[in-house]
Parts: sequence; C-alpha cells; structure tokens
Amino acid sequence: MAGNLLSVEGAYKRFGGVHALAGASLEVSAGEIVGLLGENGAGKSTLVKTLAGLHSLDAGTITLQGRPFSQGNPRSAREQGIAVIYQEPSLFPDLSLAENVFVGRQPTTGGRVDWRGMVSQTQGLFDGLGIDLNPLRPARGLSIADQQMVEIVKALSIDASLIIMDEPSAALSAAEVAQLMTVARRLKDQGRGVVYISHRLDEVTELCDSVTVMRDGATVATAAVAQIDTTQIVRWMVGREITEMFPKFDAEVGDVVLSVKGLTRAGVFHDISFDVRRGEIVALAGLVGAGRSEVVRAIFGIDHHDSGTVSVSGSVLRNGSPSAAMSAGVALVPEDRRLQGLFMPAAISRNIAMTVLARLRSRLLLRGISERRVATDWAGRLQLKYANIEDPVERLSGGNQQKVVLAKWLATDPALLIVDEPTRGIDVGTKAEVHRLLSEQAVRGLAVLMVSSDLPEVLGMADRVLVMREGRLVAEIARADATQESVMTAATISGALA
Ligand SMILES: Nc1ncnc2c1ncn2[C@@H]1O[C@H](COP(=O)(O)OP(=O)(O)OP(=O)(O)O)[C@@H](O)[C@H]1O
Ligand SMILES: [Mg+2]
Repeated sequence: MAGNLLSVEGAYKRFGGVHALAGASLEVSAGEIVGLLGENGAGKSTLVKTLAGLHSLDAGTITLQGRPFSQGNPRSAREQGIAVIYQEPSLFPDLSLAENVFVGRQPTTGGRVDWRGMVSQTQGLFDGLGIDLNPLRPARGLSIADQQMVEIVKALSIDASLIIMDEPSAALSAAEVAQLMTVARRLKDQGRGVVYISHRLDEVTELCDSVTVMRDGATVATAAVAQIDTTQIVRWMVGREITEMFPKFDAEVGDVVLSVKGLTRAGVFHDISFDVRRGEIVALAGLVGAGRSEVVRAIFGIDHHDSGTVSVSGSVLRNGSPSAAMSAGVALVPEDRRLQGLFMPAAISRNIAMTVLARLRSRLLLRGISERRVATDWAGRLQLKYANIEDPVERLSGGNQQKVVLAKWLATDPALLIVDEPTRGIDVGTKAEVHRLLSEQAVRGLAVLMVSSDLPEVLGMADRVLVMREGRLVAEIARADATQESVMTAATISGALA
C-alpha cells in the first residue's frame, strides 16, 4: 500500500555531474517508523533536504497527506508539516529552551509575547514526551541528545505530521539512543510518521516498522522489518555479500612505539600507563565520558597534561605540542572531524594531501601534481565517492567526509595512528573496508590506538582492550579473553577486574 502520509515517486536530483537522486521513492504512513538506509553518498540526506525545502527535485513527485508538496522553501516545508532533526542541531545558545521552541513565532496576547503561555506549552510538550528539562534554561551547555529533544519538541509545537531524523544517533551514548527511541515510538503512537536514518542496523531493526534501502540515488528495496534480516538489508545496500565484517590479520608484534607513563590531567584522567607496540591494535574502551578521548588528546598534545610522560619510539614528547607529536610520527583522527579534521571549503585533494605535502619542499607546480596523485590514490583505496577531486569537501556526503580525514592521516605514513571512533557515520561496507585497512597497516608495522564505543568493533579488531572508567585505567583484557561481558563489566562495575 502506498504511504498515506508521504509518497515520493521517481525523484531525480543532479548536482553538476553527480546524480544524487536517480529514481528514489519513499512511502511513509501515519503511525509508521521507516528506516532509510544506504551506503555513504546513496542520496539519503539529499532526499531529506528536499523534504526540508532546501532543494527542489529535477523530476519526480512528492505528495503529502494527499496534496502535492510545494518544494524549495524551508518555511513552507515546515508549514506543510515536515520537520527535520539533524545530527547536530542548531539551537540559539543564549535563548531559553522555550524561546528556541517558539523562535520566530512566539505566541502573543494583546500584541505582547505571552511568556507564560510559551513556557507552559513547552513544559507540556516536554512532559508529553517524558523529557526532563527546564524550559527556562538557556540552550548553551545542553548535550547533543538534549538539543535533539528540543528540536523534536519544536516539531511537535508546529504539529508536524512527518518527523525526519538524519543520523540522530551518531554522536549519542547508548542510554541517549534508548531515550531517543522511546520518544520516536511516542511520536508514532500519536499517529505521526517518522523517518529514521542510521548506519547502525541493529537500531533500525529494533525501532523501525519498515525499511527503505537506497543505492546510488535510487530506491532498491522496501520491506517490513519483521520479514527480513540484516544480511538481506546489507545485500541490498551494497549490492553484494560482505563476507568479513572484521578482517583481522596476524601481525608480528614488534618494539614499543607508544609508551604512556603515569599520565595525569587533574580532574580528567589519572595515572594512565600503557604501551602500544608495532603491529598491535590496542583499543581504549569504556563508557562515554570515561576519559578516553581526553587521554588521546593529551597524547597527541592538543591538551596539556599535569604529570607523567608520553614517549614515542623512545623519545619523550613535548607536553602539549601536536607538532612535536606529528614530527615523531603520530597521527590522530579526531572524534569531531567536522571541527578538528577538515577544511570544508577546500578541495578534497588539498584536504587529503595537505599534511603529507607540508613536509615536502617541492616546487608549487610539482606540488599540485603530487597533491592530486596522493589524493586520488587514497580516495581509491577508501572507495571515496566524489565527482571531482578538486571539489570542496563540504559537497561530500557525511560518511565520505570522514573517509577524507582518514585518508589524510594514513597518507602521512605514521608510526602510531590514533583513531577516535574511526567508523562513526560510515556505512557497513566501508566500515569493513576501514577495518581491513587498519589491519593491513598493522601488518606493515603500524601501531594503532583505537578509541571506540562500538563493542563489536573493539572485540573484532583489538589485540588488547584497555578499559577506562571515570578517568582511570581499570582493566587490560587480552584478545582471547575479551568478550562483550568482560569489557562491559570492567567499564561499569567498580572494583571489577582491576
Ligand atoms: N550540494 C551538493 N553539491 C554537489 N554534490 C552534492 C551536494 N549534496 C550532495 N551531493 C552529492 O550527492 C551524493 C549523495 O549525497 P548524500 O549526502 O545525499 O548522501 P547520504 O546518503 O546522506 O550519505 P551519508 O550516509 O554519507 O550521509 C553524494 O555523492 C554527494 O557528494
Ligand atoms: Mg547523509
């Protein structure tokens, strides 16, 4: 049955030479949660942006509640009942939550803003969804998860009939994802339609009623979740079988590359000591907030430490100096790639090659040529999806932007590669590809330190698992003993396995 709420048919959208949408369709019924799936660059966000009024289709029809949807105007899209929640919401930090919910359309009584009405309506909507936030507090300092909740409430305040979430869970902890799912189910119970985009298939099969799978801009399959399994979904997404999710090769373990001794940053992490050797992949596991990212930031010198030492290949690194770390052969692929990893308006080639070429003192012309060569080579190895290597990085899909950051650091041929959540936002096929790459580099003698909240990834890839809890290293678990249980127990229960 065609979706009685939303129906997109035969959607086409081209950007220059890129066919972002090439025969996409999507059906959503009232009271249904549809999972929208597809590899990086498949066209999911382009479809979403069209429904948000940011793009107009070149061809195709969109029907919303039986009426033709008027395209190309964000305000009109909202008025027609579509609300979009993005991975990183953009609230006004200094406005209260109530003001953020009603921004631009505050209720008035007798020509004056009806503050009390605004606050009580916001409170009512919070209560209705079980959200525990004060409408009077400013948005500044809210977690991403809470900011998304405010966006959802905003959608409800305009009585949106269709709520689209574009990778909302990418930066959330497990508990936050659970809350998001609860809220999504309430929206469904209220008879609204929900479109949920995620690269985490387990989330999608748990939450959604049906899935729509896109590949290369076209919709290739739609099915009820109850009638399919993840293997089938993956086959639709990538058009082939993925045989090995975690390709792990035997690497010869060599000399110590990274040695961390007694590393302490007051109030953040305490007395952290461990080594990583050539050929090893060591995972730093723990709950969000355990201090893992903070430790790797200090190792790379982005943050200072108060005491202890970081040595690479035998020499102690200068405290708080990323350039010293880089000269010693350390590369860090940061967690927040948008802010720390990429220069968005610059070319893909420039972004990939800038770190490696900064070292070469070649002439300008030669530089341009080697830049393209290095970039094209790595783009190929990571299966980057792009139109022209000179295009700005901001034009790439989210997952492809992440591949550019990985390429940029792998291109420097480091002795130690630190990766913080290396496959967040990366589709299943490429994820296996990234794992294979890390594994291969380890065989070639690279030392890898990996921070990951993805437990299967940790168990699949790591030779050793170091577990942090509340700023301390509480356990070291060998690959043979690392299980979901042993890692989670160490991460959550004090006194366990210390
Ligand atoms: N404004 C734009 N200009 C040029 N190309 C674009 C633009 N927006 C998207 N594209 C291209 O369209 C294709 C689809 O991108 P889109 O962002 O829709 O993918 P996606 O399915 O959301 O991927 P991801 O899972 O990585 O977020 C990509 O090849 C992308 O580079
Ligand atoms: Mg996207």
